[in-house]
Amino acid sequence: MAKLNWGMIGGGEGSQIGPAHRLGAQADGNFTLAAGALDVDAAKGRDYGMRLGIAEDRAYANWQDMLDGEKGRDDRVDLVTVATPNSTHFEITKAFLEAGFNVLCEKPMTMTVEEGEEIVRVAKSTGRICAVNYCYSAYPMVREMRQMVATGQLGKIRLVVANFSHGHHGDATDADNPRVRWRYDPKMAGVSGQFADCGIHAMHMASFIAGDQVRSLSADFASTISSRELEDDAMVNFRMEGGTVGRLWTSSVAIGRQHGFDIQVFGETGGLRWASEQPNQVYYTPVGRRTQIMEKGEGGLSSEAARLSRVSIAHPEGFPLAVANIYVDLAAAIRGEVYGALPTAEDGLRSMAAVHQAVASAKADGAWVDARPPMYR
Ligand code: NAI
Repeated sequence: MAKLNWGMIGGGEGSQIGPAHRLGAQADGNFTLAAGALDVDAAKGRDYGMRLGIAEDRAYANWQDMLDGEKGRDDRVDLVTVATPNSTHFEITKAFLEAGFNVLCEKPMTMTVEEGEEIVRVAKSTGRICAVNYCYSAYPMVREMRQMVATGQLGKIRLVVANFSHGHHGDATDADNPRVRWRYDPKMAGVSGQFADCGIHAMHMASFIAGDQVRSLSADFASTISSRELEDDAMVNFRMEGGTVGRLWTSSVAIGRQHGFDIQVFGETGGLRWASEQPNQVYYTPVGRRTQIMEKGEGGLSSEAARLSRVSIAHPEGFPLAVANIYVDLAAAIRGEVYGALPTAEDGLRSMAAVHQAVASAKADGAWVDARPPMYR
């Protein structure tokens, strides 16, 4: 099968998420890195792009040049990844969709709910794919959990409890470091700090596994380091359309937690637990019976978990290959096969609505608010 051409905006040398995209997109032989505008510094971006193997005329100085250059080519990129800082996502994603490109946008997809609705409309009217990189949903054992819930193995889901809490911004003496400070400055980060950065991964995952959408929420936000305008800790209670109760804690000051993303799902006939630091295992407890540890790669897992796992049992695959699974599904979708589990602009929009409504709730002392975007009410 012919390889697809892939382009990248942002994710330059030294960026946090850029390497995971490059490893992910190229892991399974589906994509060739053919074009890029990789850095806010044009010369650095072009130089790095060429070192990665991009031809000189397709190592662009900025995303506008890339749009103009790629539009006119017969071998234009089949997919554009947007891995720039948050405030640029909307403009770039919209421009590429309107020009007929498929897009994978980093989270959060936009800064406002209105922008999110606009992206959903543009993706629909152009018929292009617009995916959002909720990559944790693509771990094989997360797909296994989703499948178990969907096939009724836990009965009706009563509760979902999700945490995404780390301690890497917990040192008050480091709070003015520019790489940390911008995340709590509304001019740079928007209306929310930690909830928009990490909490939305956990909320997306709750919906993804439960197979349901968040309908209402009540939030308590705290800026535990007093110089911070935006929250560095949040507790969000929510309810799903089907009545499932949700509890979500997200924090960046939880010193000692490294990448504390874990999720538990409790149904009428069993419970499940998964943690991103041990992504190969799911703990499954059927009601009245002993806890079992299910392992990625073992026999008897769903076809979906098996499809998205490359190496045999007990070998870790990890984060870049979870991102690779997003690209596997994108390649299939671009080639005309459809996978229902690919996170889309609709998921990006729902997250944005939840962020804005959580801010409103926190300002109103935790009042319960409708978490759905106006478009889906
Ligand atoms: P970063 O600050 O480490 O890197 C940003 C990169 O984008 C840099 O190379 C910078 O030069 C480049 N850039 C900035 N403006 C640009 C522009 N206008 N045109 C082209 N390049 C530009 O940021 P990081 O942490 O890599 O985050 C990037 C995005 O990825 C954010 O939206 C963030 O929320 C998201 N992210 C997602 C993760 C996930 O798990 N899905 C994990 C980490 C980040």
